[in-house]
Amino acid sequence: MCGIIGYSGTANAVPKMMKGLSLLEYRGYDSVGLAAQVGDEVKLVKCKGRIGVLEEKLRDAPVEGSSCAIGHTRWATHGAPSDVNAHPHRVGGVTLVHNGIIENYKALAGALEAQGVVFASQTDTEVAAALIDACYRRTGDPVAAIRQATAHMRGAYAFGILFDGQKGRIYAVRRGSPLILAKGQDGYYIASDITALLPFTREYHAMDEGEIVCLSGQTATCYDEKGDTFTPVFQKTTLTPEAAQKGGYPHFMLKEIYEQPRAAAGCVSPRVNAAGLPDFSADGVDAAFLSGVRQVHIVACGSAVHAGYLGARFFEDIAGIPASVYIASEYRYHPPLSGEKTLVLVISQSGETADTLAALRYAKEKGLPTLAVVNAVETTIAREADRRVYTYAGPEIAVATTKGYCTQVAALWALAAAAGLANGHADADTARAVVKGLVEDAPAAMKTMLAQRDTFAAAAKGLADHEHVFYIGRGADYALAMEAALKLKEISYVHCEAYAAGELKHGTISLIEPGTPVLVLATDPALFEKTESNLREVRSRGAYVILLCREDAAVTADAADRVIRLPQTSPAATLFAALVAVQCIAYETAVFLGCDVDRPRNLAKSVTVE
Ligand code: G6P
Repeated sequence: MCGIIGYSGTANAVPKMMKGLSLLEYRGYDSVGLAAQVGDEVKLVKCKGRIGVLEEKLRDAPVEGSSCAIGHTRWATHGAPSDVNAHPHRVGGVTLVHNGIIENYKALAGALEAQGVVFASQTDTEVAAALIDACYRRTGDPVAAIRQATAHMRGAYAFGILFDGQKGRIYAVRRGSPLILAKGQDGYYIASDITALLPFTREYHAMDEGEIVCLSGQTATCYDEKGDTFTPVFQKTTLTPEAAQKGGYPHFMLKEIYEQPRAAAGCVSPRVNAAGLPDFSADGVDAAFLSGVRQVHIVACGSAVHAGYLGARFFEDIAGIPASVYIASEYRYHPPLSGEKTLVLVISQSGETADTLAALRYAKEKGLPTLAVVNAVETTIAREADRRVYTYAGPEIAVATTKGYCTQVAALWALAAAAGLANGHADADTARAVVKGLVEDAPAAMKTMLAQRDTFAAAAKGLADHEHVFYIGRGADYALAMEAALKLKEISYVHCEAYAAGELKHGTISLIEPGTPVLVLATDPALFEKTESNLREVRSRGAYVILLCREDAAVTADAADRVIRLPQTSPAATLFAALVAVQCIAYETAVFLGCDVDRPRNLAKSVTVE
């Protein structure tokens, strides 16, 4: 979602803004802008569209001689993408960029309009700028102005602010939306995440809720929620600048698909003990804790909730623990029955998804123990959950998740095995086999699939010009089908639905016409015959069928138009191989259709609004 960057120091600020903004592109955006202090003035350049448009504007009217600037990528919520709605917003002596949503902006705007303020944009952000400006005019003190103004705001925000008369200084504050302060050789920075700053520095401090920071070229002063100053502790990220580059691949998504064999093993290996058994005690999730869990609520959004559907099966099958899955934005509205031994397990790649965070906070309010499976370290969800298991996938830049989801599934599978071992539902051989499947078989199987990219490109061509595409599957394959369908539609814009294989005939089969593509996931030998019957139902109505099944599945020549065979070394090998296949099919379809693979329209990587 929206991205923030700011810099004050001795170097030229505008090129740093442009570089940082390009590294924020992955979050998803529809307009972009920057504000730079030049002498006593603030120069504002902003526009609807991509960074290329901003570059053109800067070529026509260069902004030079600035060493203090803020920049922003906007993902529209209040007010359509347009030049005027783009950030930064300037009101009176205040220029700011904002991530999040000010929920009571209408009431605040009404009060300000009554005092004569006229708004140019449709954004909640301009209202925030006007309110801070009013407080700044009253107090003459930026920190006091921020404290006064934010006391009236409801919602989530991270602001980077330039105040007139405060040369060389950027002020920042956050509540609900992430923001970091970072220290470089040539000055201080703010950013919504460290990825945007990797070319400049790796030392950062994750700002706390309600924290205010004032940074200049030489110093950074932090104020806690109460207004007391404190010295920030900087930590060093392990991410390298290369992590945010394509490394020779045409798209980040493809790079991240190829990273999966290593990522899956890298997620599980640190949680395998000398006996080859899953062991999460170093994550604070030890056998004593796991053996006390009687029920699991899995809560997440998007692909993470799809990982959750698989996770619930693992917990029930391997650990014998009843597990239910909830879409995070719904969790609070239908409070599910829970006991004190209900573990609320939230899953989030970014660690910042607003709905997941709200559900986590709700669970904590109810006194339930919480565990977060998170990729991005030191993020809000990771920090606020009682316990956290990092998936160690490394930075994921493509908006559509691949290795993030892959490692979530791997982590959940290993966690369920650890829980089964802890409560006695699984024996050591079962748990050891799960671990081996994830650390050895699945990576090898994924590599086998990645060696067959031509197959997926050929399959993709058959999907591109259809109005509807279906994925069907039973059991775990149905859960995987949901992710497969989402992947295809989010990046190629081809409409695709996932159906439990037995359910299609209860209505939706009416959409099957001659040639309608149906991709059948049939990876479980125990369910193969039943799924094959469902395949026949659509095939006899003319569907174009692509079957994904194990190497040993008995498939007659007339069963499918195309068969993609999957390694069968272990259940993990087959499932992860199928995952790579469906990801590659989505990728190749999007490439074939000329879509912006890494930055699909309207989507954001990290959804920080509810
Ligand atoms: C957005 C992304 C999805 C992602 C979902 C949850 O919608 O576009 O790819 O699955 O958020 O994100 P999280 O970071 O919480 O896993």
